Amino acid sequence: MTATTSDIERAAGLLRDGGLVALPTETVYGLGANAEDPTAVAQIFQVKGRPPSHPLIVHIAGAEHLHAWVEEVPATARLLAERFWPGPLTLVLRRGSRVPLEATGGLETVAVRVPDHPVALALLSAFGGGVTAPSANRFGSVSPTTADHVRAELGDAVDFVLDGGPCQVGVESTIVDVTGGRPTILRPGGVTREDLEAVLGGPVAVPSTSHVRVPGQHPSHYAPRARVALVESEKVVAEAELAQEQGHQVGVFLPHSLAGASVKAHAVVALPGSTAAYAHGLYGYLRELDERGCDLIVASLPAEKGLGLAIANRLRRAAGPRASA
Ligand code: TXA
Ligand code: MG
Repeated sequence: MTATTSDIERAAGLLRDGGLVALPTETVYGLGANAEDPTAVAQIFQVKGRPPSHPLIVHIAGAEHLHAWVEEVPATARLLAERFWPGPLTLVLRRGSRVPLEATGGLETVAVRVPDHPVALALLSAFGGGVTAPSANRFGSVSPTTADHVRAELGDAVDFVLDGGPCQVGVESTIVDVTGGRPTILRPGGVTREDLEAVLGGPVAVPSTSHVRVPGQHPSHYAPRARVALVESEKVVAEAELAQEQGHQVGVFLPHSLAGASVKAHAVVALPGSTAAYAHGLYGYLRELDERGCDLIVASLPAEKGLGLAIANRLRRAAGPRASA
């Protein structure tokens, strides 16, 4: 059921009172709080189980408000905001004094974005301020792309869940640091590197390992309960069948190039041909294979261009070494 005007009023009131509201965006659902309320912001970290040093994204209603949240708006930031907002692009800029250090994990920079979702935009307008919102999942696990995912994962820990239907993009925003010389992608996401480079008229940097505190860059993140094994696409069927024979409950991400192949495994997800459809479905597929009782997911990486860069990034993180319990 999509949020009504009175749901939005109620959510805006809860934010004003220091509450937590889950909100739909075009990427994933966020767990929102008043960005200027350090107590509410601290509550987000508590509910997510997220270390307080990991910074949050401030969501605002439009590019025209950006200057209020940052120390300065460099020309590059203005250009990217004009072209991609509202949309799945987050800009890292120098922090304005309005942003509490609790929201930035103590950093002197702040991440800002304008989400492209009517419910999120209506909430931001009704509320009137900035909303810090990480993905509405427990730290390290798979981001929610439906309101049901949020309810299943966070339950009563959130005061209200605004339902805006399934998230269209399905993977998080692209984070671009524009504080330095060359713009740098800190996390690939819904806006592609190619689109950024076309607008900027030059290359953007994509460091393989980031020194910035980006929790999405921890080895194991975006992870389902099942272990994820990445193999070459031609080996997906053979590896899956071998593991199934060895006693695993295997879930398979069957590449589109192998569509129709039969696989003796516990559960099979037939991947779509387009990367947009793959990104849209990705977190749902991981959740589905968990729900179907898989303990191992066998997948391959897509080509790392366009949205494939973000999908491959998330699959690598999902397959990364896990912290021991
Ligand atoms: O699509 C998205 O970005 C979603 C929706 C809800 O907007 N949000 C999201 O938030 O993915 P979260 O908290 O799960 O991831 C935010 C990322 C983290 O990796 C964080 O480290 C990074 O943004 N970040 C935030 N502030 C930063 C800063 N000042 N410098 C570098 N990275 C920052
Ligand atoms: Mg997240």
